[in-house]
Amino acid sequence: MEFTTEYFGSLVEQALENIDYPTTAPKLFDPIKYTLSGGGKRLRPSLLLAAFSALSHKNPQEAMNQALGIEMFHNFTLLHDDVMDKADIRRGRPTVHRRWNENAAILSGDAMLTMSCQLIACCAGDKLQDLLSIFNTTAMEVYEGQQLDMEFERRNDVAVSEYLEMIRLKTSVLLACSCAIGALMAGAGRDVVKAFYDYGINLGLAFQLRDDWLDTYGDPAIFGKEIGGDIVNRKKTWLLINGLSEAGEELGGIISENLDDRELIAQVVRVYDRLNLGERCCLLAERFSKTAIDALENVELNHNAREFFIQLALKAANRSH
Ligand code: IPE
Ligand code: IPE
Ligand code: MG
Ligand code: MG
Ligand code: MG
Repeated sequence: MEFTTEYFGSLVEQALENIDYPTTAPKLFDPIKYTLSGGGKRLRPSLLLAAFSALSHKNPQEAMNQALGIEMFHNFTLLHDDVMDKADIRRGRPTVHRRWNENAAILSGDAMLTMSCQLIACCAGDKLQDLLSIFNTTAMEVYEGQQLDMEFERRNDVAVSEYLEMIRLKTSVLLACSCAIGALMAGAGRDVVKAFYDYGINLGLAFQLRDDWLDTYGDPAIFGKEIGGDIVNRKKTWLLINGLSEAGEELGGIISENLDDRELIAQVVRVYDRLNLGERCCLLAERFSKTAIDALENVELNHNAREFFIQLALKAANRSH
């Protein structure tokens, strides 16, 4: 068996194509099919299948329902997130609320949430209780993280520690849950499940720091999302929080003016660049990647499996999409 993101990603891609949808109200499912066929890195289901394969030597298909459940849940959060963030483009295409409307994003998102619960529970055997417990806890944490993310838009005094807790909730716990479910399905013991969970948490922190960096410094053609949305929404990213603490009067002035979007973004980026915040943000992301790798240090893994998790962590902090 290959141990690459391409391999696990292609298994997920095939399985997504084979999902059966009810036929009574086909329009409910059009935005779902559109979303799930629009690319995406398939990071979370690949993590789940990789953890499962690394710890069990079983066929990854045995954990496919759970992998699809996680990817379905992730895509549900994106439909609602794009409404909340007023985002027009995702994966290089119009978001669901732009292509259809906000009601479609809400209701198709609701259906995706229920389908994700069904998939997590499907063929879970004696792992059902454990899977539902970690999945439901994780889902609640993601909503809490999204709530904090919105509240922080209206505050200019958010501390870095509050930001890290917010991204742990909105992003990291789902990556950690994916790793832990893979390990649980493989029959791993508590310590190994915990090590994989910790790997996912730190990977997620690196991943979201890089996502915030890409939102300002990425190439929209590769990143697939519009650049500057975080600045326009006054998102309290690591960049803006540190900018406000180091050049508070200037940056606070810029973001409280009613500048048009392009001018606002240009002025904020000028301050970021002067303070070298972009590079410092990526350095912190790299630190979390290394902590992720360390979390697996005492877990017995064969060479290919360990390399997979190491390379994935390093890539999270250096990716361009
Ligand atoms: C986007 O996640 C949401 C964040 C947590 C930053 P991904 O960057 O994994 O999105 P896709 O699925 O690959 O498009
Ligand atoms: C997304 O954070 C986290 C969730 C969707 C739960 P972002 O709002 O930064 O994600 P993108 O940049 O829109 O993908
Ligand atoms: Mg958001
Ligand atoms: Mg968003
Ligand atoms: Mg983002």
